[in-house]
Amino acid sequence: MTSDAMVSIAVVGATGAVGREIFEVLEERNFPVGELRAMASHRSAGKTITFDGRQVEVEDVAKADFSGVDIALFSAGSSVSRDYAHEFVDAGAVVVDNTSAFRMDPSVPLVVPEVNSHAIADHQGIIANPNCSTIQMVVALKPIADRYGLNRVVVSTYQSASGAGQSGVTELMEGVRAKVAGEQEPTPSTFAHPLAFDALPHIDVFDANGYTREELKMVRETRKIMETPKLEVSATCVRIPVVRSHSEAVTVDLEKDFDVEEVRRLLAESPGVEVMDEPEKARYPLARQAEGTDPCWVGRIRRDVARHRTLHFWVVSDNLRKGAALNAVQIAEELIEE
Ligand code: A2P
Repeated sequence: MTSDAMVSIAVVGATGAVGREIFEVLEERNFPVGELRAMASHRSAGKTITFDGRQVEVEDVAKADFSGVDIALFSAGSSVSRDYAHEFVDAGAVVVDNTSAFRMDPSVPLVVPEVNSHAIADHQGIIANPNCSTIQMVVALKPIADRYGLNRVVVSTYQSASGAGQSGVTELMEGVRAKVAGEQEPTPSTFAHPLAFDALPHIDVFDANGYTREELKMVRETRKIMETPKLEVSATCVRIPVVRSHSEAVTVDLEKDFDVEEVRRLLAESPGVEVMDEPEKARYPLARQAEGTDPCWVGRIRRDVARHRTLHFWVVSDNLRKGAALNAVQIAEELIEE
């Protein structure tokens, strides 16, 4: 730590969709930022970023001196994390990594503060931030699991373009514009098909078992965060033409009988959750309303029509905030409280 309990922060991936959100969240939450370093690739070196009235010059991470950094927030892709996270740790920093590089490493805590903040204490220099679609689901599952026990979780996701970074948003916008103008649509490069006006059941690459890696991340990360290594989880992850916020339809088989009103109350009292569940007034969580907000919004809470111990709900959260930047900054806040 630097003087006056100010914390020296480095943001790696500072020019990206998540990196920019990290600066906003740090500023909004009055995080005690001392020295601030912004790092990205050589392509962005020399650009400036404004943070809390300061002008910060972007450094090429490949040429940067990592000494003096207390906490490094990484969001520049897995290979950058693999290449530089340990160097930051060796230079004395704690790394909070937003990529999948270290999430399943048994020596690396995988943390959602509302669910398993105790795991932070076990870190050996790196703490992993889970996948965005996992984070919002486990925040909502936690109070339900504590009260009723989980037997099985089935989730279908409706994920926004920004989950694929700034290039995903640009590709969607250009595709929408071209289609509306009746022009030839640009050839997709971030997504496997044009995302405009479509739903793509394909996020990340396919594994041999027919699932995508995104779907398997939801399975494995949920088990690790909730400390239930055998929990039955199955996911279908779908990219939809929404700019920001992921939506998820979650089905949970519970061990104990439940009362829907009590579930609603438990969720409403739970940290990080906001219940919006008045379907008769057409009030339920929506991606565009969740954009720029912190909570995991839960609605459509109901019992299965055929299975008495099966609960369904809908959860929506801003993937760049709670799904990435906010969760990482919350971990950093817990670190400085330690
Ligand atoms: P740059 O702007 O220099 O390419 P997004 O998730 O929105 O696509 O953003 C990715 C972030 O990761 C950007 O800040 C990008 O920086 C950074 N990045 C990508 N590749 C590298 C790399 N090889 N070294 C350092 N930063 C990288």
